[in-house]
Amino acid sequence: MTRTPVNVTVTGAAGQIGYALLFRIASGQLLGADVPVKLRLLEIPQGLKAAEGTAMELDDCAFPLLRGIDITDDPNVGFAGANVALLVGARPRTKGMERGDLLEANGGIFKPQGAAINAHAADDIKVLVVGNPANTNALIAQAAAPDVPAERFTAMTRLDHNRALSQLAKKTGSSVADIKRLTIWGNHSATQYPDIFHAEVAGKNAAEIVNDEAWLSDTFIPTVAKRGAAIIEARGASSAASAANAAIDHVHTWVNGTAEGDWTSMGIPSDGSYGVPEGLISSFPVTCKDGKYEIVQGLEINDFSRGRIDASVQELAEERDAVRALGLI
Ligand code: NAD
Ligand code: LMR
Repeated sequence: MTRTPVNVTVTGAAGQIGYALLFRIASGQLLGADVPVKLRLLEIPQGLKAAEGTAMELDDCAFPLLRGIDITDDPNVGFAGANVALLVGARPRTKGMERGDLLEANGGIFKPQGAAINAHAADDIKVLVVGNPANTNALIAQAAAPDVPAERFTAMTRLDHNRALSQLAKKTGSSVADIKRLTIWGNHSATQYPDIFHAEVAGKNAAEIVNDEAWLSDTFIPTVAKRGAAIIEARGASSAASAANAAIDHVHTWVNGTAEGDWTSMGIPSDGSYGVPEGLISSFPVTCKDGKYEIVQGLEINDFSRGRIDASVQELAEERDAVRALGLI
């Protein structure tokens, strides 16, 4: 039987993450090796020509699963019938810009995109926000889409999760494949909290194996939380291939499920679990099955973790209050 193609919309398609992402989607790595896709590339007018060049290259790959590419600068066209939307395009912080200016500039992008998703996307739309500040941009888009179930709006903390896996594997002399049940809590920002207290390395508790609170506080947590800035410093541009890889992982896991006995981290609207105020888009440990996710319940949160989760959630609440004051939610 021929499957109906899944419509995947990518915003910021002409940017560096877009370039690292589109070929992997078209090759089947986002949704599965048997799932045909149609791509919609949404750009601003200045980005259209470069997006056309990328579309030419996608054609030249002759991907068997790629059933069409549309390019537009109109969100109402870009999200029409979208089943998956990857919101990558965002306004970067430039010199002299205050945090409030950044939130306002991104509100001008994510509010109309949320409204266009509300009006035109398919009923099963799943949204991943990558563009920073990702959690609060997701909140803005979600607030502008009242007819879409709130839980379909998610923000990317999978890159942080993958970064934490690699750092922990190095410290414990293990392979990332041996590590399970690691969690990123909170915001995709320097306040995020990578938590190894429930993680396992080859079946043993990671915190007990590490047994080094100074390493956790002074090395592991800051290395993971400030990795984005370290990459900008080293590369002169923010992470792109690893960010695209994490976006692929996030959606693939959401659609195809987490492995038995493991979980992942996603920025999702809080239901009040673990003391995170309802509605904030915060990172949690989640399991995925049949295209849905659930927060892992019942984890004991020690004092070390509690203070760090609370600090990141406090930052999310401040961002929410700032965009509320700007009339964006
Ligand atoms: P980039 O500047 O290379 O590309 C951004 C693209 O978005 C540009 O082509 C631009 O024209 C386009 N764009 C801007 N406004 C748009 C709009 N309204 N509609 C459609 N397209 C629009 O940036 P990049 O390196 O690809 O990064 C994109 C975003 O992802 C940034 O905000 C970056 O900070 C963020 N990021 C997030 C994570 C994460 O883990 N959540 C990781 C890395 C980067
Ligand atoms: C990252 O984590 O690599 C990015 O979010 C950094 C950035 O500010 O673009």
